[in-house]
Amino acid sequence: MSERGGLWRPLENPWVYEAFHHLIGARRWLRRFATDVVRPKAGDRILDIGCGPGALLRYSNNVSYIGLDRNEAYIERGRAEFGTRGTFVCGDVADFNSFGLPRVDIAVAIGVLHHLDDELATNVLKSTYETLKPGGRLVTADPCVHPEQDALQRFVVSRDRGMHVRPFDQYAEICQSSFDNPVATYSRGYAPFPYSICILQATRPPELR
Ligand SMILES: C[S@@+](CC[C@H](N)C(=O)[O-])C[C@H]1O[C@@H](n2cnc3c(N)ncnc32)[C@H](O)[C@@H]1O
Repeated sequence: MSERGGLWRPLENPWVYEAFHHLIGARRWLRRFATDVVRPKAGDRILDIGCGPGALLRYSNNVSYIGLDRNEAYIERGRAEFGTRGTFVCGDVADFNSFGLPRVDIAVAIGVLHHLDDELATNVLKSTYETLKPGGRLVTADPCVHPEQDALQRFVVSRDRGMHVRPFDQYAEICQSSFDNPVATYSRGYAPFPYSICILQATRPPELR
């Protein structure tokens, strides 16, 4: 199992999911994240792994966008909202290599690795590496356990819908089996909801001439 049900189950509905995101300030956080960290250039091809209803596309202009998610309702919502601005693929990341995805400039996984166990997360990152163009970038963001977080932030990550919230250092450790020198950054705050996040950035080396 990778996700908690119970109280979290209504979030599987895209309308509820989006309303919840507005409520907790995740939309504002995502806009900043897109501008400051993902930083797509015009013409970039972006793969959004575990894209949800595709909110990242709202903050990514003039890009070629592919969203992948196993939740059919999220994918339908993304298609309905963004139409031809993006391509939405419904499927499980466990089948990553079967989707015939093209090479991309940026692969993003926001709030996804903590839904995957170590084996699946490691495999997804390996496949992601292969899907990146030489020089392409990986960007991930996930809730984490960190000694600097306060009691409320720790409580919130302990109740997350994803069942594989990790200590801060473990995200980079998993990434190291496919990418050299991933850089992990810790970000915490109240947006207005308490959050503590591990942001990972890694690059597939450019091809030697
Ligand atoms: C916390 S949500 C993040 C959604 C989106 N990235 C965002 O920032 O709004 C995690 C997403 O990962 C997707 N997901 C979880 N496990 C998955 C899997 N094995 N294959 C494909 N998608 C998965 C869920 O359906 C959900 O949309």
